[in-house]
Amino acid sequence: MCGIVGYVGSHQAAPILLDGLAKLEYRGYDSAGIAVFDGKKITSHKALGKLKVLNEETHGGATLPGTCGIGHTRWATHGVPSVRNAHPHFNSDETIAVVHNGIIENYIKLRKMLEGKGYQFQSDTDTEVVAHLLDYYYDGNALHTIAKVIERVEGSYALGIMFSDHPHHVFAARKDSPLIIGAGENGENFIASDVPAILKYTRNVYYMDSLEIASLSPDHVRFYNIDLEEVPKELKTIEWDLSAAEKGGYDYFMLKEIYEQPKAIRDCMSPRIRDGKVAIEELGMTDEEIRRIDRIYMIGCGTAYHTGVMAKYIFEDLARIPVEVDLASEFRYRNPICNAGTLVVVISQSGETADTLAALRLAKDHGLKTLGIVNAVGSSIAREADHVIYTYAGPEIAVASTKAYSTQLIAHYLLALKFGYVRGMVSDEQMGDMVRQMEELPAQIDLLLQSKEKIQKFANRYLAAKDVFFLGRGQDYATALEGSLKLKEISYIFSDAYAAGELKHGPISLIEEGTLVVALLTQDELVPKMVSNMQEVISRGAFVMAVTNVDHPEVEKTAQYCLYIPKTCRYFTGSLGIIPLQLFAYYIAIGRGLDVDKPRNLAKSVTVE
Ligand code: F6R
Repeated sequence: MCGIVGYVGSHQAAPILLDGLAKLEYRGYDSAGIAVFDGKKITSHKALGKLKVLNEETHGGATLPGTCGIGHTRWATHGVPSVRNAHPHFNSDETIAVVHNGIIENYIKLRKMLEGKGYQFQSDTDTEVVAHLLDYYYDGNALHTIAKVIERVEGSYALGIMFSDHPHHVFAARKDSPLIIGAGENGENFIASDVPAILKYTRNVYYMDSLEIASLSPDHVRFYNIDLEEVPKELKTIEWDLSAAEKGGYDYFMLKEIYEQPKAIRDCMSPRIRDGKVAIEELGMTDEEIRRIDRIYMIGCGTAYHTGVMAKYIFEDLARIPVEVDLASEFRYRNPICNAGTLVVVISQSGETADTLAALRLAKDHGLKTLGIVNAVGSSIAREADHVIYTYAGPEIAVASTKAYSTQLIAHYLLALKFGYVRGMVSDEQMGDMVRQMEELPAQIDLLLQSKEKIQKFANRYLAAKDVFFLGRGQDYATALEGSLKLKEISYIFSDAYAAGELKHGPISLIEEGTLVVALLTQDELVPKMVSNMQEVISRGAFVMAVTNVDHPEVEKTAQYCLYIPKTCRYFTGSLGIIPLQLFAYYIAIGRGLDVDKPRNLAKSVTVE
């Protein structure tokens, strides 16, 4: 979703803004713009399409001199992608500039009110009402004005604001959309939607809370609540390096992140294993509390939701706790049935997904205990959930999630094992055995990654596929869902996943000569059933690629093409089964000449509903 960068210091702002926006490209955007204050007036430039255009048209920022500025990459919500709708937006005499991420939900009402008072709008965006509203309330005091505007607007926002009356100042405000403040060491400060934008300049950041306002000059950063009382804030240090957010020799972030999975899994697992047993210190739940859990809701969106689907099978089997899995966008409008024994697990890479955050808040409103499985340290979900398990996958830049998915699975395994052990369902011996097998996963994934050429070759045969079906039963159904999402989101080939037993209830009518069906057979006890399902589609003309392990010669006999995964404990096969499917999706998209890291219409962090 939209990216924001702001700078105030002694260097030329425009090149820093352009550089920061480039680091936020992964969030997805369709246009970009910057505004710089040169001491007398604010000048701006906006361009449709890639940042390259803005860069070229401003000669790398040289046409906009000044040491204070704000920049934005826009992912259209209200109004088509166009220069007119690109940010920054201004009041009529261009003395106030605004960049915004989020959605102002009452913008129509506010726009009517402002138009009634003679304000003229230049764009179709919700953001422009903020610029005019700031003008409407402006009384010479920037903080006072911003606080008044915040009282009037509903919805979500991260705002970067400049007033030409306040030289060398950038202001920021946020509610439910991410925004961090970077504290530079040499008389400069920054605002940004995400860390990579400013990591080149500083590792010291403040995380703004909802309904806070920040005022930045070259030598100060101050935070205020909505009543304009100054709030103290702790400076945090970013521990990871910029190289973690760069391609490091890979053609695409997605491939790099696929290859980072063994390390990411190790980083997620190792700190939580002691003496061959699972020990999750940060869980903050006593054994008694764990024993009292009688229902778990697993909540997430997209890929994160798919790990919840997988977790249901594992938790129910290992810990004997009933699990309900729900899409955050559905859960947030439900009236969930819950009691003191209900645990709500919210799963999110970014920790900022609007629906997941809203679901978390709904759960908290119901007085439920909440646990976040989150990758982005310091994100809203991490801060608001009662307990957090960080997945330690490192920055995930490609829109299509891979290493975040793999580490979320590990977090589920660790939790399910812990809960099963505490509740007496998992013995010491089983715990030791499963931990040992879990520790083998990184090396097994490394092995699977070595067969990438084989998968690439196969993918090249299906570059023109019209639609692809993914089938599985039990945990393999969860992997099928994720494999299908990976393929459709980056290759634009229609694909869908089915629980294989459902085939006969409708989907089989879609199978025709040559249709590619990807069948997952990693659950030993379900293999015979899956073989029957494969036969059903093959007899209707489908071509079946099976993902299985070497113990099943009957699969090889039936499927036209087989990919093998190493043997592991039945609960962990999803961690291996997904690897060939990620590579398959990647190579199909590459073969079709697509921008794998930035698929059309998608944003990395979905901070609006
Ligand atoms: C797909 C993908 C998305 C995200 C979803 C949730 O590859 O990345 O489906 O999984 O938008 O995002 P987070 O995990 O940040 O809440």
